[in-house]
Amino acid sequence: MKLRNKVALVTGGSKGIGKIIAEKIAPMVNCIVFTYRENRDKALKAKEELMMNGNKAECFKLDQSNRKEIRAVIGEINRLFGGVDILINNAAMSQEKPFETITDEDWEIMLKTNLQGPFGLIQECLPHMKEQKWGRIVNIVSIGGQWGGYNQVHYAASKAGLISLTHSMAKIYSKFGITSNAVSPGLVATDMAKNELQTEVGKKKVENIPLGRIATPEEVANVVAFLISDEASYITGQTINVNGGMLFSHGV
Ligand SMILES: NC(=O)c1ccc[n+]([C@@H]2O[C@H](COP(=O)([O-])OP(=O)(O)OC[C@H]3O[C@@H](n4cnc5c(N)ncnc54)[C@H](OP(=O)(O)O)[C@@H]3O)[C@@H](O)[C@H]2O)c1
Repeated sequence: MKLRNKVALVTGGSKGIGKIIAEKIAPMVNCIVFTYRENRDKALKAKEELMMNGNKAECFKLDQSNRKEIRAVIGEINRLFGGVDILINNAAMSQEKPFETITDEDWEIMLKTNLQGPFGLIQECLPHMKEQKWGRIVNIVSIGGQWGGYNQVHYAASKAGLISLTHSMAKIYSKFGITSNAVSPGLVATDMAKNELQTEVGKKKVENIPLGRIATPEEVANVVAFLISDEASYITGQTINVNGGMLFSHGV
């Protein structure tokens, strides 16, 4: 379904789940914009692919732990395309570390990237959404934010915070026509999951998934596409689980 004249921003869109989200929602919007942190070649290739498929696309380099960079990127999108109508906070970092070895620096960069980044992005995008009296915020969270983590306590805490931020945005801004929802994957086949899947805890997790396998990025992107569509106009403040049944079964 086409969302007329809408501009969508996907953070971390040059690889993994974000790349597939950008591909999936690009035909639904007027312009798809995504960010990348490091790999410019990969980002330019992803942009080219989107354009070859007939989409208007742009990408920007962004380290979302830095508010100044966020402000500059959103300012440029406002100038070039009029503003962000649909914000998909997908970019995040992860780190495997036993709790007792997590340093203050580990904790700080995790929270800055995974929670403060989306906070800054939402704040910078809101004026346009409020003016339009329409907006969609979708935050990609994680099952870790719902049931905690073993070797990713700081990651889990950042995602729990992002779930709460999602709820607060829905409480405050739904009356402006802006919906705010979270999509919560379990384990997905991307670079991020690679390390965890090699650990004993990771292997045990997969064994206990009721659907018997990890998710594809497409299975996450499908839900994001639904949440930004007009069909989801009455859904706000929700966390949609895409975890193959991991959470309801609580691993047993
Ligand atoms: N894969 C899973 O099993 C799983 C499970 C639950 C939730 N999730 C969530 O799904 C989302 C996508 O993850 P993924 O699996 O696709 O991971 P991924 O393949 O590692 O991609 C993560 C993306 O975030 C970007 N990023 C990292 N730090 C950043 C920063 N400081 N500023 C801007 N961008 C930054 C990365 O850019 P660079 O490549 O340039 O570093 C990359 O594009 C994340 O929110 C993740 O927490 C994933």
